[in-house]
Amino acid sequence: MTAKIVVTGTDTGIGKSVFAAGLTTLLGGIYWKPVQAGLGEETDSEVVTLLAGLPPERVLPEAWRLAEPLSPHRAAELDGVEIDTEALTLPVTTLPLVVEGAGGLMVPVNRRTLYVDVFARWGAPTVLCARTELGTINHTLLSIEAMRRRSVPLLGVTFIGDELADTQRTIAEMGQVRVLGRLPHLDPLTPEALAKAIRANFDAADFLGGAP
Ligand SMILES: Nc1ncnc2c1ncn2[C@@H]1O[C@H](COP(=O)(O)OP(=O)(O)O)[C@@H](O)[C@H]1O
Ligand SMILES: [Mg+2]
Repeated sequence: MTAKIVVTGTDTGIGKSVFAAGLTTLLGGIYWKPVQAGLGEETDSEVVTLLAGLPPERVLPEAWRLAEPLSPHRAAELDGVEIDTEALTLPVTTLPLVVEGAGGLMVPVNRRTLYVDVFARWGAPTVLCARTELGTINHTLLSIEAMRRRSVPLLGVTFIGDELADTQRTIAEMGQVRVLGRLPHLDPLTPEALAKAIRANFDAADFLGGAP
């Protein structure tokens, strides 16, 4: 079966889309953002398309495009719709699929369902992105606990940012979690720099083998 990888994170604005773009390049895959909340600025699909240099056929259309940059449950309400989470299923693809959630794990998709519950139903290997900044141990260990409690297959943690050696070690040890790699802060952030950094710091085989 073609690999499907879910990319989640400890928070919004931590670099999930940038990592997902790099991962899509690394795997020669297809990117999918099921729920896009916020259409005023560049959407995640647009950012990833540019950063991964993807042709249109390697970016699936969003299932939901909501106007306001808010939690999906609220953005949907303001648009006068409700997201049917049961209908949100992983598409069948011929290339590896990289799926990006919204915000963190406990983000409501509607008033009854959290994103982490959707990830649990999907059962696909899920990568947890974490910043390398003060506060990340707490956010990352809490996120790991929430995933394990719901039996979301946790493939491993990806760090984003400059090295913070003790923090990374502490998360790996105390979270009993595999570290898949660290994507450094890139300046300038270009498709070329991202492709190079992803190839230097991550191994495609770690993502294609499924959850341990
Ligand atoms: N590795 C990186 N190097 C440089 N800038 C980054 C990196 N990762 C993220 N950023 C920047 O941080 C901001 C948030 O990143 P983004 O991937 O959109 O976060 P998320 O998807 O978690 O909301 C963006 O402006 C993005 O360009
Ligand atoms: Mg994003």
